[in-house]
Amino acid sequence: MLYINELNIKGKRVFIRVDCNVPLDNNLNITDDTRIRRILPTVNYALDEDASIILASHLGRPKGKRIPEMSLAPVVKRLSRLLHKEVKLAPDCVGEEVRKMVSEMKPGDVIFLENLRFHPGETKNDAEFAKELASLAPIYINDAFAVSHRAHASVVGITEYVEQCAAGFLLKDELTYFHRALEDPARPLVAVIGGSKVSSKLEALENLLNRVDKMIIGGAMANTFLKALKYDVGNSFVEDDLLETAKRLVKKARNNGVKLYLPVDCVVAEAIEPKAETKIVPIQEVPKRWFILDIGPATTTLFAEAIQSARTIVWNGPMGAFEMDAFSRGTMEMVRIIANTYALTIVGGGDTDVAIHRAGASDKFSYISTGGGAFLELLEGKTLPGVAALEKCSKERK
Ligand code: 3PG
Repeated sequence: MLYINELNIKGKRVFIRVDCNVPLDNNLNITDDTRIRRILPTVNYALDEDASIILASHLGRPKGKRIPEMSLAPVVKRLSRLLHKEVKLAPDCVGEEVRKMVSEMKPGDVIFLENLRFHPGETKNDAEFAKELASLAPIYINDAFAVSHRAHASVVGITEYVEQCAAGFLLKDELTYFHRALEDPARPLVAVIGGSKVSSKLEALENLLNRVDKMIIGGAMANTFLKALKYDVGNSFVEDDLLETAKRLVKKARNNGVKLYLPVDCVVAEAIEPKAETKIVPIQEVPKRWFILDIGPATTTLFAEAIQSARTIVWNGPMGAFEMDAFSRGTMEMVRIIANTYALTIVGGGDTDVAIHRAGASDKFSYISTGGGAFLELLEGKTLPGVAALEKCSKERK
């Protein structure tokens, strides 16, 4: 894999695929601009090299149609402010008008193409569409880790048709930290996995059980494990079709010598509502028809003890329904506990970083991934198609 600083981009035109798929509110205001800020090192480097920069991203899932609410206009406005520089929004990402704009670019100019997914060719990895994108610049940079698990035209197809390819600094950081955490970790390596469904993280759990020393499971997915171990979890969310799988995973942990930690107490509520009556109970005493919505204080202490000796921690998924204050304590305590360790701490997955931001603890973690699905696929042990394509292109066309 080549990196942007290993290519000669001086005064050249570069196409940089970024992932500025940021959350917007109903008034199209950006509610979290982290993904825009995280591309700044690459964009600034290209600016320092006097390159002409063509940025491309998707936003949302417009399914091949032009949906005005999914325009990249708010992103371009924010990026312009962050760069202290004019960034022009192109009317489209391909076509005559775009080609003309690009042909008039001078060194140091920045153009942001309109949403790639307004064209069906993007998600279909259509060769003609990829060729059109590639025709805009001789050099392709992928700095879009968060979408590198998608075999899309601007992520995979384009690498076939450009003269040179390399990774940007964000992609480099994502892969480097991930490698340090899971391929070559300082041990003990502890995985903290939460969120609601075992099904969505099954492959990740399988893969992690081959790699980690300890695994901590919280969030609603722990309910499925607890029920499989014959605890009565009341009306809590459980994936009944995965009870056997959960049992098998517990056995796999034992066989692999992985120490598995599940909640020993929990916060239960009569209803899944912010103002519902709640109590803290041992896991053996979940009242009939009540819901488990967070880990309890004894579990927090248990998890803290298990984490204490860790030298590497990988965290994905909240410990409870943290979007409601009444059930956010377990997740927030985990933020505090993990932040205060001396371990290398890597976090990925949308909800987890929301919790960390909310706690104002972002700077206390070694690395917070910008990827949701992409991070999960790495946890599953998969090679991301975007990364594979980039490696191939870097090797073939140095
Ligand atoms: C994300 O938000 O995880 C990435 O931007 C990928 O988006 P997608 O799931 O719509 O492909």
